[in-house]
Amino acid sequence: MSDQITGTTASDIADSVRSLRDRGILGAGSPLPPVRELAATLGVNRNTAVAAYRQLAQAGLVISRGRAGTVIAGLESVAQEGYAANTVLRDIGTGNPDPRRIPDPAPALMNIASRPVLYGEPVIDRDLNKWATEWMAKDLPDREFQITITSGAVDAVERLLAQALMRDDAVALEDPCFLASIHTVRLSGYRAVAVPVDAEGMTVDGLRAALDNGVRAIICTPRAQNPTGASLSAQRATALRAVLADYPYVLIIEDDHFSMLSQQPYESLIAPAHRRFALIRSVSKFLGPDMCLAVAATDSETADRLAMRLSPGTTWVSHLLQRLALTQLTDETVMAEVAAAAAHYAERNSLFAARLRAHGIHADAADGLSLWIELPPTARTVAERLMRRGWLARTGDDFALDERAEPSHHLRLTVHDLTDDETDALVADLVAAAR
Ligand SMILES: Cc1ncc(COP(=O)(O)O)c(C=O)c1O
Repeated sequence: MSDQITGTTASDIADSVRSLRDRGILGAGSPLPPVRELAATLGVNRNTAVAAYRQLAQAGLVISRGRAGTVIAGLESVAQEGYAANTVLRDIGTGNPDPRRIPDPAPALMNIASRPVLYGEPVIDRDLNKWATEWMAKDLPDREFQITITSGAVDAVERLLAQALMRDDAVALEDPCFLASIHTVRLSGYRAVAVPVDAEGMTVDGLRAALDNGVRAIICTPRAQNPTGASLSAQRATALRAVLADYPYVLIIEDDHFSMLSQQPYESLIAPAHRRFALIRSVSKFLGPDMCLAVAATDSETADRLAMRLSPGTTWVSHLLQRLALTQLTDETVMAEVAAAAAHYAERNSLFAARLRAHGIHADAADGLSLWIELPPTARTVAERLMRRGWLARTGDDFALDERAEPSHHLRLTVHDLTDDETDALVADLVAAAR
């Protein structure tokens, strides 16, 4: 196949591979010839072939698998949060909130219509901006910040990275990591640098190594890390801020997705002197994923760049949605329901964790919608055994940053919505499957 690739400069060679791909001659997964072989066939210097492959990799058209060579990139299907499609099994891997714990928007919907909003008006609802500023100010004391409204946390992360980075830039991600962050980084052509997470959040050595590695952005979940449930301890946050003190322009993105439902205090990587930061709070977990709205508090330069990136495309998040969210967020009844939901998730998960611990299965009753449990057999073995008993479990392998990592021994279980009978059955089946 190397005889079909032509060119004597790096860009011509890259163009030729691109056109073979566009014409379907090279399909997803097709291997490209080794650099040495291509250089010999084309009569070019080895560095020219290396540069061509680098250009293609930066454009996301090929994937370099190190010693295994370079292949044409495909539209790999990726694991997603939420219900699995087409299954008759009881799905215990969804990561979803309980629909019965999402406040009914109907009363608020009656109150949101006012005058029409036209082109050229401020993109953020004035009252929501005021409310969000007060909410964020409590956790960003002595900081100047500006509010941006986005279509959810994942949207905010994607835009934040896009305004700060170029293809092939390195981004520090927690390992194991929230699925959408893994995919955003991969699909946008950035390089993920893994920072291990333990019970107190990102490790100090891990973050230091990532910064030494040249990361330009860090995505951190300060509370209820997905999938482990870990939250930053005050001590760990202090140590991480000290490491970050020498890198004030590295963009810190804090995805505080569990905010109002969290049982933990908010601890932060963002020191008062840090220059580029974003604290994101989505309403998805407590007002429902379909609300598709998040608040981001950022430094003003980042806010300006975000606004610029919004202008040609989505332009703004509908004011109807903004007003709906605000009406609910300022309604005492709704907020009481959110507080009750927070207590409910914590109680259900801690009861389940205690039941497992009584059988010698390690499960921290950490923060979040799901439980992260550790088992002696590989997670895939346990998941197969559970499948035979009617359960669809999600293994820790999905959340690993390195696809070639050792098989996981963790499951992430979403069990807060099980009935007592289902809980009894699942505990018994887990105990049997974990042997
Ligand atoms: C860490 C984390 N961030 C963000 C989200 C989703 O936020 P949104 O629906 O606002 O995009 C989730 C949902 O599971 C999550 O676990």
